[in-house]
Amino acid sequence: MSDSAALGAIVLAAGLGTRMRSRRAKVLHELAGRPLVRYPLAALAGLRPTRVALVVGHQADDVRRAAADAGLHDLRIVVQAEQKGTGHAVLCAASAFADFAGDALLLYGDVPLIRVATLRSLVDTHRREQADLTLATMCFPDPTGYGRIVRDPDGRVTGIVEERDATDAERAITEVNPGLYVVRSETLFPALGELRPDNAQGELYLTDVVGLAARGGRRIATLTGAAPDELAGVNTRAELARMEAILKSELVERWMAAGVTFEDPPTVYIGAEVTIGPDTVIGPNVQLRGKTRLGAGCRVDGTAYLVDTVLGDRVHVLFACVAEGAEVADDARVGPFARLRPGTRLGEHVHVGNFVETKQAALGAGAKANHHAYLGDCEIGPDSNVGAGTITCNYDGFRKHRTTIGARVFIGSDTQLVAPVTVADDVYVGAGTTVTRDVPSGALVVSRVPQRQIPGWTAQWRARNAAAPAAKPKPRAKRAARRRKPARARRRR
Ligand code: UD1
Ligand code: CA
Repeated sequence: MSDSAALGAIVLAAGLGTRMRSRRAKVLHELAGRPLVRYPLAALAGLRPTRVALVVGHQADDVRRAAADAGLHDLRIVVQAEQKGTGHAVLCAASAFADFAGDALLLYGDVPLIRVATLRSLVDTHRREQADLTLATMCFPDPTGYGRIVRDPDGRVTGIVEERDATDAERAITEVNPGLYVVRSETLFPALGELRPDNAQGELYLTDVVGLAARGGRRIATLTGAAPDELAGVNTRAELARMEAILKSELVERWMAAGVTFEDPPTVYIGAEVTIGPDTVIGPNVQLRGKTRLGAGCRVDGTAYLVDTVLGDRVHVLFACVAEGAEVADDARVGPFARLRPGTRLGEHVHVGNFVETKQAALGAGAKANHHAYLGDCEIGPDSNVGAGTITCNYDGFRKHRTTIGARVFIGSDTQLVAPVTVADDVYVGAGTTVTRDVPSGALVVSRVPQRQIPGWTAQWRARNAAAPAAKPKPRAKRAARRRKPARARRRR
């Protein structure tokens, strides 16, 4: 078989995953924020197969969506309505491969840590040895639960026997089947037609294809030596959690190798699709989720929750910030205790400080909102300063309205901007102002209740109260005392 033979793949993901005890299909459960099924598909994408069939059982539409942008050229979803075994599952994909001639890679959809390098070396082995069928094998001191690889005295593979069908002698075999095969299409599909459910589970076993090929005098090759973690399947939530831990430490290692510092690696959560630039320092208890991207030389002090958020270079995220769907440009500073909601765009050198919430808010370069503010549905020009307690009143109970603020605007503390409203460049807004109308460029705007002053009032108040001290009797006595007092005295208290 030449290197240029077509390569196709069939991924089995129809099993109900009973041991997950879930209403969701097993392959839709997430690992590092990504559905399980995405992992083998992503590894496959690295081999550029010409055709891939994904065999699904239920929630086919959801699985189709989860598999959609996995980067596969020709992905066909095949529904196996009833789960009659792994051989039956591959048979369901036969029509999708009717016009296909070449090598078919067969793998199980619940094996997320599989690497493209392993898939490639399986295909390479298959082609180098000009085999009809090639399978990966592993040796486990405790092979419980796996199909055992049976070999003849010369070491040639003669078949695979499932644990439930094995004799005591076969059960003692420690070489097992991880479930990863490459088979020439002209060997595979005829053999599938010969499968019979004459086994303990009454299923059509894909593994029986190996015995059929051996008996038919086909050439069988094996690949050994892949790491067991890599080929382990997920069957329970506990296994999912263990795999999450393995994957997380792999991700952390990978980013450390790429020049990222983690002050407390065990307390960090990193999604599989996150990227981090070199010389970025990540403090304790930081969660980086979704498609979050951090630039170079950033600092995330700790206890941060960043989802689908993009940081430029040298951004400093101080303690305890939450950001979702936000974009933060180079040299900006955020937090402590800031909340950036979707549609937030912070320009270069922007400062957003404690207890500031932003949503659909664009802050131009150098703008500052350092303390206590709600900035929603607004645009704030470069170098403007937003004082403490500023609120964009963007919601009238039915619709959202925009606030537009120009460049170099000074917004005094405790300002309300009642949207829709525009404040032009170089405006000064006096503290405590409620801005309800547009303000022209360069103006001062103030709206305040006039201040009243009564000189000497405090001394008079204190003297009056000292003359008639408030008695503090017990509640019952107090009520009785009140009844005895004349109306005038009561008024003065
Ligand atoms: C299978 C192998 C076993 C191997 C083990 C490795 C067979 C008969 N046995 O056993 O030799 O050691 O994997 O983990 O193949 N699936 C379908 N449709 C079905 C049945 C299964 O799509 O009708 C899918 C499942 O979703 C799963 C995969 O095939 O992704 C494996 O099925 P599972 O039932 O877990 O097989 P094992 O009993 O683990
Ligand atoms: Ca399994």
